[in-house]
Amino acid sequence: MPLVTFSSPLHKDKTVYAVAGSHKKTLLMLAKENHIPIDFNCEDGQCGTCLVRVTNLSRKGPMGGPLTEREVKVLKELGKITQEEIDAMAVDDIPHTSWRLACQMVLRDEDILVEYPSANE
Ligand code: FES
Repeated sequence: MPLVTFSSPLHKDKTVYAVAGSHKKTLLMLAKENHIPIDFNCEDGQCGTCLVRVTNLSRKGPMGGPLTEREVKVLKELGKITQEEIDAMAVDDIPHTSWRLACQMVLRDEDILVEYPSANE
């Protein structure tokens, strides 16, 4: 089972187990279940409120599922992803950014570090 560590300068770090393989559960769902206070608003990949920074700790492969179209659009608007990174992602299907939207990122079987809040970094 993958371990997800939530880290924020405003709160104590918390590591939780995520049930792998649902292919549906998002990072935001896991955070809410575990009372992690990640900000959110639309929960639909449109507002960018749930912006987090994700690092793969297991090094088993790519980090999380590919970015959704909405995620790419919002991250681009926020200046968190470049066109070069978007183009590279289309070629090899691996996220080329550590910035993610928690409401869009689907959990995979990998240990990750999630840093929040991160919108004003
Ligand atoms: S809550 Fe709006 S983009 Fe995630």
